[in-house]
Amino acid sequence: MRRVVAGNWKMNHGPSETRAFLDSFEMPTGEGVPRVLIFPPSVSLAAAVAHPGRPGGLELGVQNIHFEASGAFTGEVSAAMALDAGATLTLVGHSERRHVFGEDDATVARKAAAAAAAGLTPVVCVGEKLEERRAGDLASVLLRQLDAVLDLLPGTAEWLLAYEPVWAIGTGETATPADASQAHGILRERLAARGWSGPEVPVLYGGSVKPGNARELMDAPGVDGVLVGGASLDPTDFSAIVEAGRR
Ligand code: PGA
Repeated sequence: MRRVVAGNWKMNHGPSETRAFLDSFEMPTGEGVPRVLIFPPSVSLAAAVAHPGRPGGLELGVQNIHFEASGAFTGEVSAAMALDAGATLTLVGHSERRHVFGEDDATVARKAAAAAAAGLTPVVCVGEKLEERRAGDLASVLLRQLDAVLDLLPGTAEWLLAYEPVWAIGTGETATPADASQAHGILRERLAARGWSGPEVPVLYGGSVKPGNARELMDAPGVDGVLVGGASLDPTDFSAIVEAGRR
């Protein structure tokens, strides 16, 4: 499977900074390069889409959508609107959406299904908090989050999964490659047990990925790529992480 390197800019890089990033981002090319996805704030999407120096092959997404198609939902955007604006993917269920904005498993699942129905590829994020891990609940938390999505997602959907342990996000704490492999194994086994027979689902690791640790994480068995927050904001660092994913 072709590796995937994704950058989640969170609430960083408005339109001007997006243009500046693309002015200096050097996208690795040639044999074995990963797919490269960037998730800017939705107000910066148009700047990225229209940028004359946008590297060919760079895929753009939004960080969140609403599950309804339109209506009285102040501040929200729908999957169809994101698609119309030039996004081809959306993050769904990022831990900040779950834990800062209170999205539950059912909401995350509805968003994933709405994205897939509109033709926007969902990147579904799952992950346990530190106290859940310490209590021995790693598998039960991941499976609860995954099952909710599998209950609603059509079997033909193209989608990606991202394992992001909440304790490793923005903390400088990185899961070891063995931790990542263990969690990815749990997710893959469940996909198989639930009879997933749709398109192959790449499983990414996220949480304090940097140029210095990206390669060992991507080399870990079961890891198909990385979802990068902080280090994706710097064009040089992000380019180095993409290069680290070359096969
Ligand atoms: P981080 O964020 O790389 O800054 O830890 C990862 C994420 O939240 O996707």
